[in-house]
Amino acid sequence: MTVPFVDLTAHRSPVDLRDRVALGFTKALRFCADTFFAKRYGHRAIVLETVAAVPGMVAATIQHLRCLRNMCDDRGWIRTLMDEAENERMHLMTFIEVAHPTRFERMVILLAQWVFYLGFFGLYLVSPKTAHRVVGYFEEEAVISYTLYLREIDEGRSPNVPAPEIARRYWGLPVDATLRDVVLAVRADEAHHRDVNHAYADELSGIVVNAARIAASPPHAVGDRAAA
Ligand SMILES: [Fe+2]
Ligand SMILES: [Fe+2]
Repeated sequence: MTVPFVDLTAHRSPVDLRDRVALGFTKALRFCADTFFAKRYGHRAIVLETVAAVPGMVAATIQHLRCLRNMCDDRGWIRTLMDEAENERMHLMTFIEVAHPTRFERMVILLAQWVFYLGFFGLYLVSPKTAHRVVGYFEEEAVISYTLYLREIDEGRSPNVPAPEIARRYWGLPVDATLRDVVLAVRADEAHHRDVNHAYADELSGIVVNAARIAASPPHAVGDRAAA
């Protein structure tokens, strides 16, 4: 299997106060996640993917409404953002085959969804640029977390179980694919989200975006068809 290329060193340096707030907020959440989950990467993936699937749908909704009000073109943003939300949901559907959330984690998911959905919706209404920057930084952390998950697998601390069937269908993986192949594909998706969201934040700031620097995501099926 060809390993998708991911630039592991990519980091968008903050250039203004909003960027610094976005980065500080992300680092604070990272500290909470590290404290709560430690090295339980399967559980970490499930809980965080339930949150990761929110921003794309919120941003798509608000951009859709903006385009209706202003009767203007969306320049492909809405489809891209909805694809991101679906892609994150497929990450969740994959990892639920690998680990099972505890009852307490299910309560955390419920609470986090309420708080994060409403918080992100409000932030996007007030400052879409900051909202996309926050997601860009979240995705930088996701790339780091999945790199650490790969190390756990490679060093034998997490079993390299066969890839779930839903993941093989979604990413078109071979029948002998393993969890390691799945994590590589997921990490490449996160790198793509990282670059797209930083690019959207830049575009909203009036910065010219070099589209060639946006990481490609691995090819995958449309989610619900993969799950059928
Ligand atoms: Fe994800
Ligand atoms: Fe992501």
